[in-house]
Amino acid sequence: MGCQYFDPCSGGADSFTVAMPKLTFGRGTLAETGARAADLGIKRIALFTDPQLEDGALVATVTESLKRASIEVLVFSDIRIEPDDDTIMRAAKFLADTNTDGAISVGGGSVMDTTKAALMIDAHGGHIREYFAPPIGDGKAIPGPLAPHIACSTTSGTGSECTSISVIRVNELNTKFVVAHPHLLPTAAIVDPQCCDSLPANVVASTGFDLLSHALECYTARAYTRLSAVADPTARQLIQGANPFSDLAAREALDIAGKYLARGVADSTDNEARDNLMWGATLAGIAFGNSGTHLPHAMSYGVTHLMSNITSDGYPVASPFVPHGISVIVCAPSIFRYTAEGAPDRHLEAANYLGSDSVGATPDDAGEILSTRLIELMRATHMPNGLGGIGFSAADVKALTESSSRQKRAIANAPRDSNLVDMENMYSGAISYW
Ligand SMILES: [Fe+2]
Repeated sequence: MGCQYFDPCSGGADSFTVAMPKLTFGRGTLAETGARAADLGIKRIALFTDPQLEDGALVATVTESLKRASIEVLVFSDIRIEPDDDTIMRAAKFLADTNTDGAISVGGGSVMDTTKAALMIDAHGGHIREYFAPPIGDGKAIPGPLAPHIACSTTSGTGSECTSISVIRVNELNTKFVVAHPHLLPTAAIVDPQCCDSLPANVVASTGFDLLSHALECYTARAYTRLSAVADPTARQLIQGANPFSDLAAREALDIAGKYLARGVADSTDNEARDNLMWGATLAGIAFGNSGTHLPHAMSYGVTHLMSNITSDGYPVASPFVPHGISVIVCAPSIFRYTAEGAPDRHLEAANYLGSDSVGATPDDAGEILSTRLIELMRATHMPNGLGGIGFSAADVKALTESSSRQKRAIANAPRDSNLVDMENMYSGAISYW
């Protein structure tokens, strides 16, 4: 397979591993959670959610289903958007204090990522900081499996229900870092599109660009054949570069984003569009969960680190706050102009899946065609006009670069190498698009 995949090189990996939870998708499937938990042998479950969802219909449906299956439910809802290291340690203590034998998360990426990390600490001890890669942490490996986790996503963006990744803000450093390990993968994922029926348009837009960028980044990521082969098969990470399996899911997710993102944002009653976006988010999660993201996500961390004096409608958090999907997409057109040189055919194909017209285009046109299509979609969904639209200027470029350059794993997953000057140029190109 390796020699047939694009961009092989000597000494590179010639195999890849695929992992995903047992996935259930469809309207009404939140009511299946009790039967799913009972099937996993869970008798006393920790239900993780956030304060906005805790007293709502979605959590009520899950709780009733669990109780119908004679499962005792203990709720932890003290989870902020973009959970921090303190949140994780409090959630882990909750697990230890309540002596549960499994967990269910009902929420967006913040809730699901908190649950993964809390289960990890509960099973294997230590502090969350020890599990971050150096130089932030000790790079502690997760030595074994966690308690069963049923992940129920309530937004059409994160895809966290299908990934082995947990993103956590480190308060002391005021930025986010990633813990990634196959043992973090939820046992089961339940994706019920009814969760998105009442989402405000701007939340559908920002989460939709998260899904779009997940798919785009893994489709254009460095090929797995260019990453080093591993001697120990259990040490093979799922962040392993683009591969034939992640391609499958990414292509479909890109097609869905191109067709339905603008529709799902424009009309909250367009169930066809919103259900497809939910499916696209799950597919994109499956894709990047088995390949990894690259520069748009890496460079979004500098944005959320340094944002100031900005709030976003529809999100119950104090200023400064920029939704994750917006922090990713504001730089993406500029970044893909740069990365196209590393994998022009893939950038051109991705633009086509997103619906751009590239008849007669050559590989040299790939970056421009893809970024033009992204900008079209951003304008159609009222996204901010680049970094300038969320309060940044050329004076911030150096600091943004310095902050994001710490995301070494994602930067290395890009199809084209970049140094600090290249990153500064990408940020400069992202200040304004129209
Ligand atoms: Fe993301």
